[in-house]
Amino acid sequence: MDVRTAQATIEDLLAATSDTLVLVVPPDATAWQLPKPLKALLEEAVVQQDLTLKPGKTLYLHRPAGFKPQRLVVAVAADASAKAFKAAVSAALGPVRGSGAKSVTLAWAGRDALGADHAEQAVRALDDALYVYRHTKPSAPPASKLVRVTLAVNEAAGGSARTAATNKAALVAVREGVRRGQAIAAGVGLARECANRPGNHCTPTYLASEARALARGHGLKVEVLERAALEKLGMGAFLAVAKGSDEPPKFIVLQYHGAGKKDAPLVLVGKGITFDSGGISIKPAGEMDEMKFDMGGAASVLGTFRAVAELQPKINLIGLIPTCENMPNGGAMKPGDVITSLAGKTIEVLNTDAEGRLILCDALAYAERFKPAAVVDIATLTGACVIALGHHHSGLFSTDDALAQGLLNAGQAALDTAWRMPMDDEYDKALDSNFADIANVGPRYGGSITAAMFLKRFTSAYRWAHLDIAGTAWRSGAAKGATGRPVALLTHFVLAQAAAAA
Ligand code: BES
Ligand code: MN
Ligand code: ZN
Repeated sequence: MDVRTAQATIEDLLAATSDTLVLVVPPDATAWQLPKPLKALLEEAVVQQDLTLKPGKTLYLHRPAGFKPQRLVVAVAADASAKAFKAAVSAALGPVRGSGAKSVTLAWAGRDALGADHAEQAVRALDDALYVYRHTKPSAPPASKLVRVTLAVNEAAGGSARTAATNKAALVAVREGVRRGQAIAAGVGLARECANRPGNHCTPTYLASEARALARGHGLKVEVLERAALEKLGMGAFLAVAKGSDEPPKFIVLQYHGAGKKDAPLVLVGKGITFDSGGISIKPAGEMDEMKFDMGGAASVLGTFRAVAELQPKINLIGLIPTCENMPNGGAMKPGDVITSLAGKTIEVLNTDAEGRLILCDALAYAERFKPAAVVDIATLTGACVIALGHHHSGLFSTDDALAQGLLNAGQAALDTAWRMPMDDEYDKALDSNFADIANVGPRYGGSITAAMFLKRFTSAYRWAHLDIAGTAWRSGAAKGATGRPVALLTHFVLAQAAAAA
């Protein structure tokens, strides 16, 4: 998507050269000093009950009098926040998507200038709405013809007096926001595409080839460890999961170097189960297809590297992706088996469906060798997290308050939020085993917390946080598909860490 930015007054917009003008207005728009054709149009639409000035409402007009663009979409935003702007842009895209629009001018008819966050959200919302999954569905409607978006930074809108200097600053901020939005959108798009591909297409081998392609295209370092290397290392927990499947496991190591050689890196670890049947503790058939999304954590790591490679922050970043299938063939691990992890701890496998923590614990032990500043793992780890938080917030678990706060803040800034969950020591006892150092499951209740407590036992060497994205990585039902979350949260977190270090 080609995105331009331009300074424009509200009068300029009426003569915009795009074929479509999307105007986001505040709920009190009719009380504003607006150019005549616009004010008249809004007032009449309200009187005729074609437009309600309530958040999320839109009005589509074809060839409105006094406007050069042949399409006009008015969308109402609750307030001047980036969140409200994003919601209004998303609402406006309904009519735009179904039209022949090729070029859109997007503007805000409010008093305050658009900021970087507004621009970022608008670009991301546009890109998100225009994504079409086609890889195994060639009959899907072709991607939108929309080729150019101009974000108009309105100077002196609504009668407010702004100087040339403040207008210039607004333009600079919007350009920065567009750059961030485009990088994040590309990362989200990559994560969605990987996660949407079915398990027979998106295999561990496919994820490894995607990582290699990403590295080649963006100057990253990549290494893929094969089964023999994993055996030599002693990744007994990861390999125990992988051995129930005919697909070879891969351990992907991505590296981005944006800071000094000696600067401790941030490490992202993504769960890459390309299909989770549950193994011998097999899952019920209903909705089992959705377990192709069980590599959403891995996809978010790839997506974040895509965004970071484009934005070039001054930070060192390592991505670790253990990826395999969880299947029940004749060689599969069995309930009761005791396996030895890379950290040396033995694990009693009480349920083969609690496989995510088994592949992650070896990746978390592997992370130690990078002497990380912090480690964040991202995993579609527990159904219990979906019960606890639903689909709005990702679950955040950490024993490090500063790290947790940093991730929560990044989620807020990115509008890709997380909610902190407890990790009191009392939860730990549930993982005691009579036959090994630790059991891989605890009781049913509080299942997302015991899963986090399991991981915690492998993270004593560094600052660590865990994001359970089981409820946020994909949607079910008619809108079934990957969301690309939490690429935006992670990218904002990486940028904030880089800014704090500078
Ligand atoms: N990948 C699943 C978690 C999951 C399930 C995410 C449903 C989203 C929807 C994970 O590997 C799993 O199976 N977890 C078990 C853990 C249990 C056996 C302790 C679960 O949540 O049921
Ligand atoms: Mn499972
Ligand atoms: Zn799983």
